[in-house]
Order: sequence, then structure tokens, then C-alpha cells
Amino acid sequence: MRVLSGMRPTGRLHLGHYFGVIKNWVELQEGHETFFMVADWHALTTAYKKSEEIPKNVEEMLIDWIALGIDPNKSVIFQQSKVKEHAELFLIFSMITPKSWLEWNPTYKDTKYNILKLVDLDLMFKGGLRDHVKTFVAKLPYKVEDFEALEEHLLDNITEALIHALFEGYLDKEILKELNVSKRDFYDTDTYGFLGYPVLQAVDILIYKAEAVPVGEDQLPHVELSREIARRFNGLYGDTFPEPQALLTETPRLPGTDGRKMSKSYNNAIYFADTEEEVRKKVMSFFTDPQKLRKGDPGRPHLCPVFFYHKFLTYPYRLEEIENDCKSGKLGCVDCKRLMLEGLENLLKPLRERREEIYKNKRNLPDIIESGTKKAREIAIKTMEEVRQKLKVG
Ligand code: TRP
Repeated sequence: MRVLSGMRPTGRLHLGHYFGVIKNWVELQEGHETFFMVADWHALTTAYKKSEEIPKNVEEMLIDWIALGIDPNKSVIFQQSKVKEHAELFLIFSMITPKSWLEWNPTYKDTKYNILKLVDLDLMFKGGLRDHVKTFVAKLPYKVEDFEALEEHLLDNITEALIHALFEGYLDKEILKELNVSKRDFYDTDTYGFLGYPVLQAVDILIYKAEAVPVGEDQLPHVELSREIARRFNGLYGDTFPEPQALLTETPRLPGTDGRKMSKSYNNAIYFADTEEEVRKKVMSFFTDPQKLRKGDPGRPHLCPVFFYHKFLTYPYRLEEIENDCKSGKLGCVDCKRLMLEGLENLLKPLRERREEIYKNKRNLPDIIESGTKKAREIAIKTMEEVRQKLKVG
């Protein structure tokens, strides 16, 4: 089976990346043909104003990939922007992808608003408009089949339109001040390229005719869109692309030090590049059950992010003991975190050493990328010949 996945170079990797996707990639290297791509053009969709930072991030990410077990002898490791054929297929796919597939893509609005902290604005408008939309729909001079679906659709679109209007200055500007957002923030990701993000991702997958795509659950809509684009192309010009399947890991979201999903932007992540001391500090500051204030208080392990780690990190044979002792109060949070630290260091220590080793030899990285890119390009070139021939253009 041909497997392909990619990651945007946003810098050093944390535990969430490993348990969310990379562990899966490493395992898939055995017995499959694996391609792992540095999605640097994708990084440009949001970081185009700081493009000079991308090369450093590419290097950091590659060091972590290899330290974590992505093996250049087993996998094709390559860089998106070096395979220019992606750009040509992106153009062709852009012609056949209906705009609505992109606008309705749930990750589009989510990401756009998340990055810009516009979620509140979106929620606020929706809250204020819902009743008005209901009244409006009830008065429509047309026969309505599905009131609820129509209401949701209108609410989404009116909210979006009003957010635009706000940034264009048609509404009271005080709202912007209150929420501390600016016109510039909004238009940073209000670009053609950002909307087309999943089209480029479909190219990444389909140009190699990959059958399986190991990703985190947040990427499912993108893989689904790749399938739709493949179907559309095949329908229009004849069978060319297989429909790729997403492969999910078992570990769902990993909690960060504050209990929320581990993420660079929440500042709650443990990095593979962190020193032992940094990791110790982070682990000891981990959020735990807020009702367990001191040793002796009964804890609720199922609510506790530290216990979540025990489940797959520390010695499994002691799991039950930890659970019972937390519940009874015998085990305090400080000792419990020490256990977590021990388990975590079992994993991190050898990786940290490998990371340092690779860092020392980072002069080899360009060669690794170049040889991977060469292999990837050969396939991309062949696919493009087939595409041009079927399309009868180019
Ligand atoms: N969008 C993916 C992410 O943010 C990265 C990505 C780019 C990707 N191209 C891909 C993932 C192709 C899988 C296949 O994580």
C-alpha cells in the first residue's frame, strides 16, 4: 500500500504531534511504501508575511521527524515546494473544484476564526441573529422543505457577511475594540490561497496516487475532499486517481499542561527539544483534578490529564494501583506527577539524545531531502503526463 502524509513546518514538535500522527507514520514504514512531505507551501497560506522563518522551521521539524524514527532509508522524505508539479496540478484541480466545497469545509471557518481569535465574534453574531433568522424563514414566500437546515445555512452566511461588514466599517467599530481584533488580522487569512488549502492538499495526496493518509482527526474533512476531487476528475476525464483512505491513530487528543489540547498556540506543550529540567517543570505544573487539593483528598482519575498519561506512558502494570490510590487519596498529585515524569523521561531521554546527534550532523539534512524529493518527483512527473494526456490540455 502506498502511504502519504505531510505536515506544515511550524517549528519544533511536541508530544501531541508524536502520539497524534508521527507514531503512526513510524509504524507504517514497516511493510508499506511511505512518503512524508514537508508542506512548506501550505505553511505559506498563513505565514506568508514571515516566509523567511520557514526554512528554519523546516530544519527543526526534520530533525524531530528523524529523531522520532522517520527513517530516510525506509521512507521518502521530501519537500513540497521542490516538486513544482504540485503547482500545475493545483491549478488544474482549482478549475474543477466547486467553490462551495471549500466554503462549506468545516476546517476552513474553524481555522480561519481560531487563528484570529474570531470565534467569540462568530458566536456573538450567531447568538444575536438566531431569532431574527427564524422569524425571517417563517415569513418566506416559498415552500420550505427543511426549516432547520435552511436556518443554519442562512445563519452561517449572514454571520460571515456581517463579520466582513464589520471589518469593512459598515458596523459600529466599537465591537472591534472590545474584542481587540483588527481589520488586518481578519484579512491576513482572507485569501484565495487559504481557501484553496485543501485543494493543494488533495494534490499532495493524489499526485502520488496514495491509497492511505495517516493524519490526526482534524484532517478528516481534507482527506474526504481529496476523495471528492479524485472522483470528480475521474468522472470528467477517465479513471486516473485512486480514492485515498484516512488512517487515524488510537491516541486521541493529548492534553497539555493546562488540560486543554496540547498545542503550540496554547503554550501548554512539551517539546522533544526541551531539556530534562524544562520537562520536569512542565510536568510538575500540570493541571490535575481541581477538587483534589492535597494528599488525602480523594481524586477523580478519569478527569485528570496526568492520569491520561499514565494510561499509555508509565508502567502499565501499576495503572490500577495508581487509579485506586488516587481515588482513595493515598497517592498525592505531586507523587503522581513524579511517576508521570519518570515514564515520560523513559520515552524522551533516548529521543533527546538522538535529536542532539542529528542536530550535530544537520549538514546531512539537505542531502536527505534532495534524494527524497528526487524520488517523489519521478512519480509526480509521470502522473502529470497522464493528467495532461487525459485533459487534452498542456
Ligand atoms: N494539512 C495538514 C496539516 O495541517 C498537512 C498536510 C499538507 C497534509 N499536505 C498533506 C497531510 C497531505 C496529509 C496529506 O496537518
